[in-house]
Amino acid sequence: MNWFIIISLFFIWNFQECHCCLKWKWSADYCECSDITDILWKSYGTDEYDILISEKGGCVKNITCHDSVLTYVTTNFSTSEIVRPDDSHKDTKAYVDSCEIYTGIRKGSIDVFSFFGMTCENNKWYVTKYPFGVHYITKDSETKFITEGLDGKRSEIESVSCRPVEPPCKCSDITDILWKSYGTDEYDILISEKGGCVKNITCHDSVLTYVTTNFSTSEIVRPDDSHKDTKAYVDSCEIYTGIRKGSIDVFSFFGMTCENNKWYVTKYPFGVHYITKDSETKFITEGLDGKRSEIESVSCRPVEPP
Ligand SMILES: *[C@@H]1O[C@H](CO)[C@@H](O)[C@H](O)[C@H]1NC(C)=O
Ligand SMILES: *[C@@H]1O[C@H](CO)[C@@H](O)[C@H](O)[C@H]1NC(C)=O
Ligand SMILES: *[C@@H]1O[C@H](CO)[C@@H](O)[C@H](O)[C@H]1NC(C)=O
Ligand SMILES: *[C@@H]1O[C@H](CO)[C@@H](O)[C@H](O)[C@H]1NC(C)=O
Repeated sequence: MNWFIIISLFFIWNFQECHCCLKWKWSADYCECSDITDILWKSYGTDEYDILISEKGGCVKNITCHDSVLTYVTTNFSTSEIVRPDDSHKDTKAYVDSCEIYTGIRKGSIDVFSFFGMTCENNKWYVTKYPFGVHYITKDSETKFITEGLDGKRSEIESVSCRPVEPPCKCSDITDILWKSYGTDEYDILISEKGGCVKNITCHDSVLTYVTTNFSTSEIVRPDDSHKDTKAYVDSCEIYTGIRKGSIDVFSFFGMTCENNKWYVTKYPFGVHYITKDSETKFITEGLDGKRSEIESVSCRPVEPP
């Protein structure tokens, strides 16, 4: 008899567990709020890229935006637990900021969903976190900030403005084909990231700084007198007159661009040179700009550090 009760209880308990578990699973995939992307907008003037969004189950999403003055949530003081300041204009919204507007400290990209603690309650979307506070407009048309005592307060989301981030670069790291020119081991090449594929690569404009390309993978027509093994050398200076600016960003200088997973130069400020069948050096300076040449390698003479 005892065993029968124990076994029965075990089955009942087990059944309830499973039932709960099914219910929990079902609710984890279901969100009672409307799709938040219905109130998500690309900020004005940022049409080039799409907003990256991924589902994380239930109501939770990952919405990647650039932290910037163009990324914020609007809420109406009347539907927020934040007390409307006495000096606020009657028509002002509260703007939940994604960055320190004046100092401009940026991380680059943020998941606005977790950043602002977005949550769905009673069919409505709320923010609950205010990492950089909120701002509003006063009766005198000034911008004022509220930064204290905000966290945990719920504010119904009216809309989300998002500045999309550049999609990740599809080309291999250009530094894989970037070399210090022969005999210049003393300094390192200065490189900084500028988002997406764009970099700033600082080199000395000199005969030691150039890009090599193969005529067979360039839109520049191979000259008849070129040696069959010559590359085209995209120059960074007027080799004979030797005019120099000191340092250049070879990335923008040569109009480097990533297309179809390949690196190209598109600008030839000092033309290209090649070697003839008679081992002479010859120059091409006309009709080059805009022509794409696949980059084989980049030779860089580093500049002296500041
Ligand atoms: C959100 O998605 C971005 C882009 O795919 C990713 O880099 C980031 O790590 C994700 N963040 C979170 C919190 O899941
Ligand atoms: C805030 O909500 C009230 C009540 O719904 C509405 O009358 C008012 O226009 C809203 N204000 C803003 C700035 O959207
Ligand atoms: C590239 O970086 C160098 C060194 O930091 C800097 O002096 C220069 O202004 C930068 N150029 C561009 C185009 O960003
Ligand atoms: C140019 O490319 C062709 C075809 O891939 C290759 O046979 C040739 O060796 C390359 N020439 C140079 C100078 O790298």
